[in-house]
Amino acid sequence: MIDRLPNLFKNNRKWASDMRVVDPEFFSRLAQQQSPELLWIGCSDSRVPANEIVGLLPGELFVHRNVANLVIHTDMNCLSVLQYAVDILKIKHVIVCGHYGCGGIKAAMEEHPHGLVDNWLRHVRDIQQRYQQLLAALPSDAERMGRLCELNTVEQVINVGSTTIIHDAWSRGQSLTVHGWIYDVADGVLKDLDVCIASPEDLKALLNKTL
Ligand code: CO
Repeated sequence: MIDRLPNLFKNNRKWASDMRVVDPEFFSRLAQQQSPELLWIGCSDSRVPANEIVGLLPGELFVHRNVANLVIHTDMNCLSVLQYAVDILKIKHVIVCGHYGCGGIKAAMEEHPHGLVDNWLRHVRDIQQRYQQLLAALPSDAERMGRLCELNTVEQVINVGSTTIIHDAWSRGQSLTVHGWIYDVADGVLKDLDVCIASPEDLKALLNKTL
């Protein structure tokens, strides 16, 4: 028997009517256009719902999510989202948000195979290898994993900042800041990793920063 998930439709009707009670024009206004100022690049993890954790409504956040919040230079999906957000929507901020307890990062650190996803997670393993010394100096696996969740996020900020999309925007004078944040699924708190870049000089400085 096919389960058509009726509860979700029930929830949806309630949500839509609750929204209209608070703001009767909400949907008719959104139907005209979206003008978000933020692009969120986060993990697919169900515990990290972009809009909820920063208290934003539909229309306020343009979102791309994938396993382990990766920005890969040949990923046309992610790059198309970025290009549309920057060139058409003229967003002002790109937020790369990693999270502690990331299953993708954990899987990348494990030796046993996980199937197709290991090809995607190879990018995380490359980062793990790049920071091998730094990670080896940490006292426990839990700390190594937490640190790799942070380092992976920083590397994705660098990847965003290294795209032609961002460089072209900066060179035509468009104001655009790329942020690296990390969210803790254990307490719901977001932390700024302090790796903001808003110019090619900032990117250069970040590349030279000792992590
Ligand atoms: Co994750």
